[in-house]
Amino acid sequence: MPDTPVIRSARAEDAGAIDGVIRAAFAATAHGYQGEADLVRMIEADGDALVSLVADAGGAIAGHVLFSRMYGEADGAALSAAGLAPVAVSPDRQGRGIGDALIRAGLDALRDRGVAMSFVLGHAAYYPRFGYSPELGARFASPFAGPHFMAMMLDSGAAWPQGGRADYAPAFGRLGQDL
Ligand SMILES: CC(C)(COP(=O)(O)OP(=O)(O)OC[C@H]1O[C@@H](n2cnc3c(N)ncnc32)[C@H](O)[C@@H]1OP(=O)(O)O)[C@@H](O)C(=O)NCCC(=O)NCCS
Repeated sequence: MPDTPVIRSARAEDAGAIDGVIRAAFAATAHGYQGEADLVRMIEADGDALVSLVADAGGAIAGHVLFSRMYGEADGAALSAAGLAPVAVSPDRQGRGIGDALIRAGLDALRDRGVAMSFVLGHAAYYPRFGYSPELGARFASPFAGPHFMAMMLDSGAAWPQGGRADYAPAFGRLGQDL
């Protein structure tokens, strides 16, 4: 298909288009836009962005996903983990696998970087297909702990930690204060 997007790393000149996609995608949700584009900028400014990918449809940005550094510990050792948030696809292009492709490419990029785990706070009906598990998430203390807090080992054969603590990057705590 001519407009099948290519998944590639975000570049500095994509910033405005990424902002637009995030605002449009979240504005169309039940919760409305809650500053997710500002969150992306704060995470990047702090140096906590690990993987930032766009879906490039012939030069138009159709979607974006960010994975950011997390802090904490797993079985007493420093946590090696990336949090998935936010992911956004233009409302007029949703439901065609773009979000799926962005998330899978992002998880592969994290594997290439040797990151051990990923966490997400999101819909229990969507994220398990990528390998995220509420059971693994429940082993970690977090301000977001609950049924929507999920985790996965990026090496699917790796043993699960018994427990630990998983904190999102500091920018998440500033969301709503700096806006
Ligand atoms: C979530 C989102 C990125 C998915 O992108 P997409 O390209 O539409 O997704 P895909 O085409 O790859 O997958 C579609 C699947 O996602 C599911 N889905 C989409 N949004 C969902 C939601 N809020 N809750 C549960 N499932 C959802 C669809 O039901 C569909 O499931 P199916 O494959 O079983 O039919 C996109 O819908 C979006 O931008 N939503 C607004 C922003 C948002 O809520 N982001 C997630 C929180 S960070």
